[in-house]
Amino acid sequence: MFVCCLALLGVSALLVKGGTPVNQSPRIFLPGDVMLDGLAPIHYPPGTREEDPAQNSNGKFSHHCGGPFNFRGLQHSEAILYAVDQINQNKTLLPGIMLGIDIKDTCNSVDHTIRESLQFGFIRAAYMRTEEESIRACGLTQNASGLALDTTNKGVAIVGAAYSGITIAVANLAGLFHVPVVSYASTSRLLSDRKRFQNVLRTVPSDTRQAQAMVDIIRKFDWNFVSTVASDTEYGRSGIDSFKNAVKSQEHSRICIAVDEVFTVRTPKTKVREIMSKIREHPEAKVIVLFAELNDADYFINVAREKTLQDTSGLVPMRSLDLTRFYATTMTY
Ligand SMILES: *[C@@H]1O[C@H](CO)[C@@H](O)[C@H](O)[C@H]1NC(C)=O
Ligand SMILES: *[C@@H]1O[C@H](CO)[C@@H](O)[C@H](O)[C@H]1NC(C)=O
Repeated sequence: MFVCCLALLGVSALLVKGGTPVNQSPRIFLPGDVMLDGLAPIHYPPGTREEDPAQNSNGKFSHHCGGPFNFRGLQHSEAILYAVDQINQNKTLLPGIMLGIDIKDTCNSVDHTIRESLQFGFIRAAYMRTEEESIRACGLTQNASGLALDTTNKGVAIVGAAYSGITIAVANLAGLFHVPVVSYASTSRLLSDRKRFQNVLRTVPSDTRQAQAMVDIIRKFDWNFVSTVASDTEYGRSGIDSFKNAVKSQEHSRICIAVDEVFTVRTPKTKVREIMSKIREHPEAKVIVLFAELNDADYFINVAREKTLQDTSGLVPMRSLDLTRFYATTMTY
C-alpha cells in the first residue's frame, strides 16, 4: 500500500529500506546538506475491535504497524515534501544549501514512534560519541573511525508529529538532545507548557481555541444541556478539559453536562453501547460534544448508527442515536 501510493508523489522522494536493523519500516528519504526528520501517521495502529479478531493480539497492543492505511497521514508527508521542495527551489531562502528530509511512519503508536526515532541521526550520533569516549577511556589503541557517523545525515530538527500523544513522547526524547520539534497538527493544550516543552513549537493553535469555538456554537444555538464524549488519549482528554474550562468561564447562560465519558477505538463495543445508553437516559441533553481523534470518532458514529441495538428492558424501544445532524469543527489531533 505504502509503495503504491508513493507513486502519487510529485516529488523526487526515494523509498529506502533502512540500514542495519532488519525490521526497520519503510521511510521517505530525500538526501540533503542539512537534514530534517519528519513524522507522519501513514498507518493506523492495529485496533482491538471485537469484530476484527485478526487485529486483536490477545488484548495486548501490537507493536507492528498492522492497522489500516491513513490517507491523511500521506497527505501530511506530501505537504512536508512539497515545502522542502519549495525551499530548495527558492534562490533566496537557503542559497547554496540543499534541505533533506527523512520521514518515518508513526502509526499513531508511541512505542513504534520511539523505536523509529531511536534511528534518527542525532540520537545515533550522541550514542556513537559515548561509545568513542568509552573506547578512549579504556585506553584502547584501536581508533574509533569505524564508529564515525556520516554527520550530513544528522537531523537538525523534527517536523511532526501529528497526534498530540506522539508529539509529547517525541518531544520528551528530543528534548534530551536539545533538538527542536515543530508540529503541524498537534493541538493539545499540554504542549503550550513552555516549562515542560522548551523545544516544541507548532503551526496550529492550541485546543483552548477550538474548545472556545465549540462553546460559542453551543451558546449560539441555546443548547444548554450537552453530553461530552472524548477520546481517552492526550488529545481527547486535554481537549475535553479545555471545553469544560471554557464552559466554566461562561458568566451568563451556563451550559450543563449530563454525561461525561471517554473511549477509544480499542474500547469494546459493549462498553461503547453502555455510553450510548447513558446518553439516552438524558433526553434533555440533545447534543453530544465529541472530542475525538478521527479514527475514534468514526468508530463511535458507526456504533451509534447501528439499528440493531439490544432491547433489554422491553419497555422502551431502544433506538439508535439520532446523528442526522452532525456539525464538525476543525480536524486536528
Ligand atoms: C522565495 O522566498 C521568499 C521569502 O519567503 C519569497 O518572498 C519569494 O517569493 C520566494 N521566491 C520564489 C521564486 O518562490
Ligand atoms: C585508524 O583506522 C584507519 C582505517 O581503518 C586506518 O587506516 C588507520 O591506520 C587507523 N589508525 C590508527 C592509529 O590505528
